[in-house]
Amino acid sequence: MNEIILEVRQLVTEIHQRRGWLRVVDDVSFNVRRGEIVGLVGESGCGKSMTAFSLMQLFPTPAARVTSGQIQFEDRDLAKLTADEMRRVRGAQIAMIFQDPATFLDPLMTLGNQIAEPLRAHNFAGNATARTRELVAQMGLPDPELMVRRYPHQVSGGQKQRALIASAMACAPKLLIADEPTTALDVTVQAQILDLMRDLRDQTGAAILLITHDLGVIAEMCDRVYVMYAGKIVEHNTTRELFRAPRHPYTQGLLRSTVSLESASAELFAIPGTVPNLNELPTGCRFAPRCPIANAQCKQEPPFVANDASAVACWNVERAAASDIWKLEIGS
Ligand SMILES: Nc1ncnc2c1ncn2[C@@H]1O[C@H](COP(=O)(O)OP(=O)(O)O)[C@@H](O)[C@H]1O
Ligand SMILES: [Mg+2]
Repeated sequence: MNEIILEVRQLVTEIHQRRGWLRVVDDVSFNVRRGEIVGLVGESGCGKSMTAFSLMQLFPTPAARVTSGQIQFEDRDLAKLTADEMRRVRGAQIAMIFQDPATFLDPLMTLGNQIAEPLRAHNFAGNATARTRELVAQMGLPDPELMVRRYPHQVSGGQKQRALIASAMACAPKLLIADEPTTALDVTVQAQILDLMRDLRDQTGAAILLITHDLGVIAEMCDRVYVMYAGKIVEHNTTRELFRAPRHPYTQGLLRSTVSLESASAELFAIPGTVPNLNELPTGCRFAPRCPIANAQCKQEPPFVANDASAVACWNVERAAASDIWKLEIGS
């Protein structure tokens, strides 16, 4: 159970722009074990989706490409595969689902046909119709017979996302990448979809890389978590430890801004400022301009030990641990 199936090392992904190459994923390392749910969390624009696209070697823009690093998946480095070899991995060994299911469903195709699409693409040897019905039932969709004949506009948002997950799970992938899978759904449906993903992990043993801006989702779902800021991983740990004792000021801020249903506190907190433009990155720690305890040392890049059991990229971990640094911020 402890076997690592995905080991990403020093991944760099860049987008070619008129002003040169923009490094959207910068020296990112992480791993995922068989059957594990690993979270990747950070504010919008931090490079989470670009990290996911890098693993799939499939980008929303032709200007993007992985420029260095390794993506070791089982015994292969995905960064070295040809387009053809990668096509055989995608949808079969690694599948991906996205925030907005509507964008990825063909309005003119029945859900049944769309769920069966990866089976056809990867020359499924068994009975595709039976497999499709089985998937529909497994997704908790009502009336499988009827559901497979429905078109996307005839079903709810939650049912669309279930259909997309069914399609992703069709070939029994070993890794499911879920990029903000519940962000577009209302809260009740969100919880149901998360339950479904957890059940699928339990039943199939598939590992899940769960990408979200929401630490609440992470707490609910993940075994371990990586925190990403401005293209870099700044902290990682087990979910339990990360929530018990967040070490990076950014993680501490994210945690404070997560609305907790248990806490009676009505205080709404947001980390002041915004994620820096990748064209105008500060030197040294990228979070320093927003950090309440930044000092002169933060002009240097903080050390970071990648792929240890846990790690944090901050010069002032002791100070961050010693006091409630964001409380200071609010009071001042
Ligand atoms: N299609 C695109 N073309 C150019 N730049 C992009 C594109 N998609 C994302 N980016 C840039 O890549 C960076 C990371 O974006 P993204 O990975 O989407 O962040 P996240 O998923 O964490 O919100 C951002 O600076 C964003 O502006
Ligand atoms: Mg994204």
